[in-house]
Amino acid sequence: MSSGPLIVLVGPMGSGKSTVGALLAERLGAPYRDTDADIVAAEGREIADIFVEDGEPHFRELERAAVRAALAEHTGVLALGGGAILDEGTRALLAGLPVVYLSMDVEEAVRRVGLGAARPLLAVNPRRQWRELMEARRHLYTEVARVVVATDDKSPDEVAEAILDALELKDQ
Ligand code: S3P
Repeated sequence: MSSGPLIVLVGPMGSGKSTVGALLAERLGAPYRDTDADIVAAEGREIADIFVEDGEPHFRELERAAVRAALAEHTGVLALGGGAILDEGTRALLAGLPVVYLSMDVEEAVRRVGLGAARPLLAVNPRRQWRELMEARRHLYTEVARVVVATDDKSPDEVAEAILDALELKDQ
Protein backbone atom coordinates (compact mmCIF):
# COMPACT_ATOMS: atom_id res chain seq x y z
CA MET A 1 0.00 0.00 0.00
CA SER A 2 1.31 3.46 -0.84
CA SER A 3 1.83 5.96 1.95
CA GLY A 4 -0.05 8.67 0.04
CA PRO A 5 1.15 12.04 -1.23
CA LEU A 6 3.45 14.24 0.88
CA ILE A 7 1.50 17.34 -0.13
CA VAL A 8 -1.67 17.87 -2.19
CA LEU A 9 -2.18 21.34 -3.64
CA VAL A 10 -5.68 22.64 -4.36
CA GLY A 11 -6.91 26.09 -5.33
CA PRO A 12 -8.20 28.04 -8.30
CA MET A 13 -6.43 28.25 -11.62
CA GLY A 14 -3.54 30.67 -11.52
CA SER A 15 -3.00 30.28 -7.79
CA GLY A 16 0.42 28.79 -8.54
CA LYS A 17 -0.19 25.11 -7.91
CA SER A 18 2.17 23.95 -10.68
CA THR A 19 4.94 26.46 -9.99
CA VAL A 20 4.82 26.03 -6.23
CA GLY A 21 4.35 22.27 -6.57
CA ALA A 22 7.50 21.94 -8.65
CA LEU A 23 9.44 24.06 -6.14
CA LEU A 24 8.20 21.99 -3.22
CA ALA A 25 9.12 18.77 -4.99
CA GLU A 26 12.62 20.08 -5.59
CA ARG A 27 12.99 21.18 -1.98
CA LEU A 28 11.80 17.81 -0.69
CA GLY A 29 13.64 15.71 -3.28
CA ALA A 30 10.29 14.16 -4.14
CA PRO A 31 8.53 13.65 -7.48
CA TYR A 32 5.94 16.14 -8.72
CA ARG A 33 2.70 15.15 -10.38
CA ASP A 34 -0.19 17.16 -11.76
CA THR A 35 -3.57 15.62 -12.58
CA ASP A 36 -4.22 18.08 -15.46
CA ALA A 37 -0.99 16.85 -17.08
CA ASP A 38 -2.02 13.23 -16.47
CA ILE A 39 -5.31 13.85 -18.29
CA VAL A 40 -3.61 15.61 -21.22
CA ALA A 41 -1.10 12.77 -21.54
CA ALA A 42 -3.74 10.04 -21.36
CA GLU A 43 -6.09 11.78 -23.81
CA GLY A 44 -3.45 13.12 -26.19
CA ARG A 45 -5.20 16.51 -26.34
CA GLU A 46 -5.33 19.76 -24.41
CA ILE A 47 -7.89 20.37 -21.66
CA ALA A 48 -9.47 23.24 -23.58
CA ASP A 49 -10.06 20.81 -26.47
CA ILE A 50 -11.65 18.23 -24.17
CA PHE A 51 -14.05 20.93 -22.89
CA VAL A 52 -14.97 22.02 -26.42
CA GLU A 53 -15.19 18.57 -28.01
CA ASP A 54 -16.78 16.55 -25.19
CA GLY A 55 -18.09 19.08 -22.66
CA GLU A 56 -17.29 19.80 -19.05
CA PRO A 57 -19.14 16.77 -17.55
CA HIS A 58 -16.93 14.42 -19.56
CA PHE A 59 -13.82 16.30 -18.46
CA ARG A 60 -14.96 15.98 -14.82
CA GLU A 61 -15.28 12.19 -15.22
CA LEU A 62 -11.75 11.98 -16.59
CA GLU A 63 -10.59 14.22 -13.75
CA ARG A 64 -12.28 12.13 -11.06
CA ALA A 65 -10.48 9.01 -12.31
CA ALA A 66 -7.15 10.84 -12.70
CA VAL A 67 -7.31 12.19 -9.15
CA ARG A 68 -8.26 8.83 -7.71
CA ALA A 69 -5.32 7.14 -9.47
CA ALA A 70 -2.84 9.83 -8.47
CA LEU A 71 -3.90 9.79 -4.82
CA ALA A 72 -3.49 6.01 -4.74
CA GLU A 73 -0.11 5.92 -6.49
CA HIS A 74 1.78 9.12 -5.85
CA THR A 75 3.98 9.65 -2.81
CA GLY A 76 5.42 13.07 -3.71
CA VAL A 77 3.85 16.47 -4.34
CA LEU A 78 0.53 16.40 -6.17
CA ALA A 79 -1.33 19.35 -7.73
CA LEU A 80 -5.03 18.94 -8.58
CA GLY A 81 -6.91 20.89 -11.26
CA GLY A 82 -8.85 23.85 -9.87
CA GLY A 83 -12.24 22.14 -10.15
CA ALA A 84 -11.28 18.72 -8.80
CA ILE A 85 -12.79 19.51 -5.40
CA LEU A 86 -16.27 19.85 -6.99
CA ASP A 87 -16.57 16.08 -6.85
CA GLU A 88 -17.90 14.75 -3.57
CA GLY A 89 -16.05 11.44 -3.91
CA THR A 90 -12.78 13.29 -4.49
CA ARG A 91 -13.38 15.42 -1.39
CA ALA A 92 -13.92 12.24 0.62
CA LEU A 93 -10.62 10.81 -0.66
CA LEU A 94 -8.83 13.99 0.45
CA ALA A 95 -10.00 13.69 4.05
CA GLY A 96 -7.06 13.42 6.42
CA LEU A 97 -4.41 14.12 3.74
CA PRO A 98 -1.92 17.03 3.88
CA VAL A 99 -4.00 19.24 1.59
CA VAL A 100 -2.97 22.87 1.06
CA TYR A 101 -5.36 25.46 -0.36
CA LEU A 102 -3.56 28.21 -2.28
CA SER A 103 -5.93 31.15 -2.07
CA MET A 104 -5.88 34.53 -3.84
CA ASP A 105 -8.24 37.45 -4.22
CA VAL A 106 -10.14 38.35 -7.38
CA GLU A 107 -7.91 41.19 -8.60
CA GLU A 108 -4.82 39.07 -8.23
CA ALA A 109 -6.57 36.25 -10.08
CA VAL A 110 -7.48 38.46 -13.03
CA ARG A 111 -3.91 39.80 -13.15
CA ARG A 112 -2.41 36.35 -13.13
CA VAL A 113 -4.79 34.49 -15.38
CA GLY A 114 -5.44 37.45 -17.70
CA LEU A 115 -7.95 36.75 -20.39
CA GLY A 116 -7.62 33.04 -19.76
CA ALA A 117 -7.78 31.89 -23.38
CA ALA A 118 -6.24 28.57 -22.41
CA ARG A 119 -8.66 28.28 -19.51
CA PRO A 120 -12.11 27.66 -20.86
CA LEU A 121 -13.88 28.59 -17.62
CA LEU A 122 -12.57 32.17 -17.71
CA ALA A 123 -12.74 32.80 -21.43
CA VAL A 124 -15.63 35.29 -21.58
CA ASN A 125 -15.72 37.71 -18.64
CA PRO A 126 -12.83 36.74 -16.38
CA ARG A 127 -13.66 38.99 -13.42
CA ARG A 128 -17.32 38.05 -13.19
CA GLN A 129 -16.66 34.38 -13.92
CA TRP A 130 -13.98 34.35 -11.28
CA ARG A 131 -16.32 35.74 -8.64
CA GLU A 132 -19.00 33.18 -9.47
CA LEU A 133 -16.52 30.37 -9.53
CA MET A 134 -15.10 31.29 -6.13
CA GLU A 135 -18.54 31.76 -4.59
CA ALA A 136 -19.34 28.20 -5.64
CA ARG A 137 -15.99 26.74 -4.60
CA ARG A 138 -14.43 28.66 -1.72
CA HIS A 139 -16.12 26.59 0.96
CA LEU A 140 -15.09 23.36 -0.79
CA TYR A 141 -11.41 24.36 -0.92
CA THR A 142 -11.60 25.29 2.75
CA GLU A 143 -13.40 22.07 3.64
CA VAL A 144 -10.67 19.81 2.22
CA ALA A 145 -7.70 21.90 3.34
CA ARG A 146 -5.49 21.21 6.32
CA VAL A 147 -3.69 24.48 5.65
CA VAL A 148 -4.69 27.66 3.77
CA VAL A 149 -1.91 29.84 2.32
CA ALA A 150 -2.82 33.26 0.89
CA THR A 151 -0.62 33.75 -2.16
CA ASP A 152 -1.49 37.37 -3.09
CA ASP A 153 1.68 39.15 -1.99
CA LYS A 154 4.03 36.21 -2.01
CA SER A 155 6.54 34.91 -4.52
CA PRO A 156 6.38 31.19 -5.36
CA ASP A 157 9.42 30.64 -3.11
CA GLU A 158 7.69 32.37 -0.21
CA VAL A 159 4.54 30.31 -0.74
CA ALA A 160 6.60 27.09 -0.80
CA GLU A 161 8.35 28.16 2.39
CA ALA A 162 5.03 28.90 4.13
CA ILE A 163 3.73 25.46 3.16
CA LEU A 164 6.79 23.63 4.43
CA ASP A 165 6.49 25.55 7.70
CA ALA A 166 2.79 24.91 8.10
CA LEU A 167 3.07 21.18 7.38
CA GLU A 168 6.23 20.89 9.48
CA LEU A 169 8.18 19.43 6.56
CA LYS A 170 11.15 21.76 6.96
CA ASP A 171 13.71 19.20 8.11
CA GLN A 172 12.96 16.50 5.59
C1 S3P B 1 -10.28 24.08 -14.06
C2 S3P B 1 -8.96 24.31 -13.78
C3 S3P B 1 -7.88 23.89 -14.69
C4 S3P B 1 -8.31 22.71 -15.56
C5 S3P B 1 -9.61 23.00 -16.23
C6 S3P B 1 -10.74 23.32 -15.26
C7 S3P B 1 -11.32 24.52 -13.09
O1 S3P B 1 -6.75 23.51 -13.93
O2 S3P B 1 -8.42 21.54 -14.78
O3 S3P B 1 -9.41 24.07 -17.12
O4 S3P B 1 -12.46 24.04 -13.15
O5 S3P B 1 -10.99 25.37 -12.23
P1 S3P B 1 -5.71 24.54 -13.23
O6 S3P B 1 -6.32 24.93 -11.92
O7 S3P B 1 -4.49 23.71 -13.03
O8 S3P B 1 -5.52 25.66 -14.17
